[in-house]
Amino acid sequence: MEIVFSHYSVMLSECIDALNIRPDGIYMDCTLGGGGHSLEIARRLTTGKLICIDQDICAITAAKERLREHADKILFVKNNFSNIHAILSELGIEYIDGALLDLGVSSYQLDTPERGFSYNTEAPLDMRMNEDAALSAYEVVNTYTESALRRIILDYGEDNNASRIAGAIVKKRAEKPIETTTELVEVIKSVTPKKLLAVGHHPAKKVFQAIRIEVNSELSIIEPTLTAITSHLNPNGRIAVITFHSLEDRAAKHAFAELSRGCTCPPSYPVCVCGNKPKLTLINKKPILPSEEELAENHRSHSAKLRVAQRTEY
Ligand SMILES: C[S@@+](CC[C@H](N)C(=O)[O-])C[C@H]1O[C@@H](n2cnc3c(N)ncnc32)[C@H](O)[C@@H]1O
Repeated sequence: MEIVFSHYSVMLSECIDALNIRPDGIYMDCTLGGGGHSLEIARRLTTGKLICIDQDICAITAAKERLREHADKILFVKNNFSNIHAILSELGIEYIDGALLDLGVSSYQLDTPERGFSYNTEAPLDMRMNEDAALSAYEVVNTYTESALRRIILDYGEDNNASRIAGAIVKKRAEKPIETTTELVEVIKSVTPKKLLAVGHHPAKKVFQAIRIEVNSELSIIEPTLTAITSHLNPNGRIAVITFHSLEDRAAKHAFAELSRGCTCPPSYPVCVCGNKPKLTLINKKPILPSEEELAENHRSHSAKLRVAQRTEY
């Protein structure tokens, strides 16, 4: 089956600049997707290597085709980027010179109805980026307790109507399982105040985001992954992270803050006894935002933020 993978790469030139690519370096694109960022990294390598990771086999298959003229420089890995230690150890690589994470789902995933990511098209409740994963949106919606659903919708969707939505889901599924995206949208709409139905965002947007985050454990893996990548960076190697909502950005910001912290001794200590040294230096204190031009061209970039940090000398 031919996969037509369309995805506009967010902040492409900013990411390439941020990575400070050396032609003989080893780089890692942790979120290959349509391969747009990878293609620009690969073009800048001569003897260097690029490790391309994605947990979605469709992304790997499509990107292999798109990147075929650089095949000799690329190692494709179908895995979750949270397994960074295992991935590198299996490849026999200990240190890398840069890593990129462009978090979240690709336009291809969102626009492929049967993946169940979109509240605009009828599809089975799925939302798995890795189609081999055990947990899908169907299990979350039909088996989680009301309080667990409420917590997810509130924490990951930041939807103030979480209690009513969780209650409505539990009531509906007692009649019969909620099987499709449209069935879930109807349940959400049934408890959305009329004035909110008339204006603003789609009433299911936040709930779908919340369930997607839960299904793919998207938030909990950000900090440990950034820490793991840092431990594999050569001095002066860079990490660039693009986030798309406040919860992701908070996790990336927090991880970078921790990793760039030096001494943790109380201020009252006359000399440092902890011996902690910063592992990262922040390249930009505030996140880089898309240009006006990009915002006009690509709606998906609207919420994007890019954070960049550099490994300190050991
Ligand atoms: C926003 S897209 C990347 C787009 C890509 N930078 C481009 O230019 O085409 C995110 C991709 O990362 C993958 N992904 C998200 N979380 C992942 C994870 N934890 N492990 C591996 N891949 C992940 C998704 O499957 C998706 O294909």
